Amino acid sequence: MKRVLVATGGGDCPGLNAVIRAIVKRAEQERDWEVIGSIESFNGILREPTEIRVLDERSVAGIHVQGGTIIGSTNKGGPFAWPIKKTDGTWDYVDRSDEMIRKLQYLGVDAVISIGGDGSQKISQALYEKGLNIIGVPKTIDNDLSATDFTFGFQTAVQIATDAVDKLVTTAASHNRVLVLEVMGRFAGWIALHAAIGGGAEVCLIPEIPYDLNVVLERLKSRYSRGKGNAIVVVAEGAKSKDGDVVAEESSEVGYKNVRLGGIAHKISYDLKKAGFEADMRETVLGHLQRGGIPSAYDRILAAQFGVKAFEMVLEGRFGEMVAYRHPDIISVPLTDAIGKPNFVDPSCDLVRTARGLGISFGD
Ligand code: F6P
Repeated sequence: MKRVLVATGGGDCPGLNAVIRAIVKRAEQERDWEVIGSIESFNGILREPTEIRVLDERSVAGIHVQGGTIIGSTNKGGPFAWPIKKTDGTWDYVDRSDEMIRKLQYLGVDAVISIGGDGSQKISQALYEKGLNIIGVPKTIDNDLSATDFTFGFQTAVQIATDAVDKLVTTAASHNRVLVLEVMGRFAGWIALHAAIGGGAEVCLIPEIPYDLNVVLERLKSRYSRGKGNAIVVVAEGAKSKDGDVVAEESSEVGYKNVRLGGIAHKISYDLKKAGFEADMRETVLGHLQRGGIPSAYDRILAAQFGVKAFEMVLEGRFGEMVAYRHPDIISVPLTDAIGKPNFVDPSCDLVRTARGLGISFGD
């Protein structure tokens, strides 16, 4: 019996379970393959005792409609930076990648499928360079991975953000308010841009187009006449003004290397008030709602395509590569293409032009 190990790493995202199910269903057609899952990304392999579970058709039945991941995920630790507590109470990070590869050999693992975003695929590439038979599957609500048109999870997040705009529109109109909606995306403005167009916002602020507060102020003022009016501002968590920086804080969580973005919605309201904007303003931070719940049909389908393709890449021995979607095909690309540079919004792309054509201001 041959064994393929599946791991889900980084922030969870709608569609992860649909990928796992597709891998298992495709693998079961081969008869001589068994699928096992490592709990909480590779931490399940690195822990003692090992935390893995067999994934068969029964254990994945119906999970394509469930959010989250049945094998857990983490964006802390990992084989190259495993946290160890020192005697003085501080933490050190050690490279346990060789040990992990040996353990995978001991467990009879022939191939690994790593489902994750940018950080996880960088780990995949590093493990591949050490000789591990590994394949990547691109995941993130942020859609910031290169070499694929879309990552699964993104469309669900866009739908959730657009639904939020729809709801905010009615309350903004009732109270003559400006409602500022902060959405996720890290340093990419894809979710904000899509939700602003889909929901019909007046202002959309994204990291790729630094804003001028005065331009935003004038746009909002133009929405009011004799105190009556309303407006929706969709702001990406990584947005920043022309002369400012992102609103972020270092995390104190052990092994968490990312900065935590968040707070730009409140900053914008505060700055606009200070600049003399008179209408009422309220802020909504959508946060992890964008990552939870049932994946959209689109994401389930994309996830199913990625899962089937990933297992077929195992059969073909296409290690060091990642599944990718290039409309209308599901292809495989070198992992290095995916992690070389992030997929940011190009300020001159069609979608930005569409938004401008609709009168949406980017504050530039
Ligand atoms: O990368 C996905 C994402 O949801 C980002 O949009 C967000 O900035 C980050 O993860 C939040 O991470 P955490 O779950 O660690 O708070």
